Amino acid sequence: MAKTYILGNWKMNQSIKNIEDFFNDINIPKSDDSSFFGIAPQAIHFSICKDLANDLNIGAQNVSQYESGAHTGEISPVNLKEMDCDFVIIGHSERRALYKETDHNINEKVKLSLAHNLLPVICIGETLEEREAGKEVQVVTYQLVNALKNIEINNTDQIVIAYEPVWAIGTGKSATSDQAQAIHKEISNKLEVLYPGIGSKISILYGGSVKPSNISELLEKENINGALVGGASLKASDYTSLCTATK
Ligand code: PGA
Repeated sequence: MAKTYILGNWKMNQSIKNIEDFFNDINIPKSDDSSFFGIAPQAIHFSICKDLANDLNIGAQNVSQYESGAHTGEISPVNLKEMDCDFVIIGHSERRALYKETDHNINEKVKLSLAHNLLPVICIGETLEEREAGKEVQVVTYQLVNALKNIEINNTDQIVIAYEPVWAIGTGKSATSDQAQAIHKEISNKLEVLYPGIGSKISILYGGSVKPSNISELLEKENINGALVGGASLKASDYTSLCTATK
């Protein structure tokens, strides 16, 4: 059985006071062999979150494709590991669109993360224009294959995929559970081709306007193994509801 993940992506949000309140107020199950709960704060808040998190996993929103050197403003995978980082989000659509990350950059980041025993959460997803042109499967498959180019996987928990249709992110307009399921199935089939015997057991999260009111319906679908959540992960009560919905 694929593991279930509820990952919060806080993006460029939360004050220190908000963070303290959040960790005081959450009441979520412990992560175990079947479930993994985590939050990715801004890098500047990583240590504060680690100190307050107890059992909650703390991740990064981005990682450099280089280990060290003259890369002002970047975050080294070596030092993320040193900070006991539990996962790294790679290739979020905002990084692709606003900071011009390419499939090649993403592939390098995934490689280096794996080399340093970090768990990459690889984001893929089509724009509205691509969906309206009927190209969603083509786009998502291309992003998937290129993110994983020349990458060996030996066990199912080494990577996580997040399908996030760009038109559903921050818009309040989630994909329906059937729309998500259809793409997740395609991703799962492709993963099995890339990694026979392992691929179809890799967790695939859905992201895009996930909230307490739609999480259960999404999680009921066969190939949906959790969620990557922006807005609804900022509030302790909503995040708690999302995590408890997995049980
Ligand atoms: P959202 O963001 O839940 O606010 O739509 C999801 C994401 O960007 O990962």
